[in-house]
Amino acid sequence: MRDAIRALPGSLIREVANAGLGRDDVLAFWFGESDEVTPQAVRDAAAASLARGETFYAHNLGLPELREAIAAYTRGLHGSMDAARIAVTSSGVSALMLSMQLLAGPGDEVVAVVPVWPNLTAQPAILGAQVRRVALRPDAAGAWRLDLDELLAAVTPRTRVLLVNAPNNPTGWTLSRDEQAAMLAHCRRTGTWIVADEVYERLYFGGRTGQAAPSFLDVAAPEDRLLVAQSFSKSFLMTGWRLGWLVLPGGAGGAGEGAEAMAAMGKLLEFNSSCAPVFVQRGGLAALAIADDFVPGLVQRLQAGRDRLLAGLQALPGVQAAMPPGGMYAFFRVPGQGDSLALAKRLVVEQGLGLAPGAAFGPEGEGWLRWCFASRDPARLDAGLERLARALRL
Ligand SMILES: Cc1ncc(COP(=O)(O)O)c(C=O)c1O
Repeated sequence: MRDAIRALPGSLIREVANAGLGRDDVLAFWFGESDEVTPQAVRDAAAASLARGETFYAHNLGLPELREAIAAYTRGLHGSMDAARIAVTSSGVSALMLSMQLLAGPGDEVVAVVPVWPNLTAQPAILGAQVRRVALRPDAAGAWRLDLDELLAAVTPRTRVLLVNAPNNPTGWTLSRDEQAAMLAHCRRTGTWIVADEVYERLYFGGRTGQAAPSFLDVAAPEDRLLVAQSFSKSFLMTGWRLGWLVLPGGAGGAGEGAEAMAAMGKLLEFNSSCAPVFVQRGGLAALAIADDFVPGLVQRLQAGRDRLLAGLQALPGVQAAMPPGGMYAFFRVPGQGDSLALAKRLVVEQGLGLAPGAAFGPEGEGWLRWCFASRDPARLDAGLERLARALRL
């Protein structure tokens, strides 16, 4: 086995979940998904596809009508997009892995903004690339901030990829348009690719309800060395479907680096999964068709959960918790509790409260806990808060 694989850390969230194995009284907020089922129209579309017998291989890059629909959806959010720049993938995580396979080989440098969902930094490590971490830091109120100068100083002509996830899992940190423009201008100078993980772009509370978070697509030209990873999981409650997409560069009239990257992506898709299942893609089409009706309501429900949970956390003496502007997580700290894995295990075992330890997202998250507030029933959040309060009184 390769050393790079042997060296991969196991999932600390799973380790905590295992501490509660076999118990049915655990209130689990440790995973990044809602407890709501996928919208009926999406499930119906997939079922109808199967009933029609759509059980065969499809095009590597996705059904042409889904690529068109994704481009139209993206135009609605970000102004312009061409279906020729869209590659359908079997999940957001697969879109990210394909990006890394395209760009980062043994010894290549990848600069990543952290703390972050561990899959993002594990992927380049699997491929033998070197990951250099640039840390967000919490302010006194517990809101996480980027030192832009520090990040730009870390990205040099030796840097192949700048990896940024915003809205960020776990901190909720989002990027401003000015920060995106500054990163882009810098990466143009160094020749660095930006891989932007924007799977939480619709779960954004900083604008009109339903408005997307600032995206690199808003500031970039089609020719820029930018890959945007997207997913149906979070905006359409489709975590189990494993469907996502990548936006690749375009421009140059269908020739140039963008066209070359898309041709290469077609090959990579062939060698990874060959194609996303057609009935799953039909579900994706149905999701995009209801997006304007569905997403604002989802965001409202999430915002209600966020506000309720944050109010409860902030009321607990000593707990440091800032209102996240995006995503589906509260990321908070209990002073005096430095070992987040031990604390998360204790919360499961003693209180039946399931949270993710901050250390799961890198050493920068140590001492913090992540709580997914995507819960349809507010009473569940209240019950969880009571259990946390009980634990902290011990
Ligand atoms: C930051 C981030 N990126 C990407 C993903 C991938 O989502 P999926 O593979 O379900 O599309 C997740 C899932 O939790 C995530 O948190």
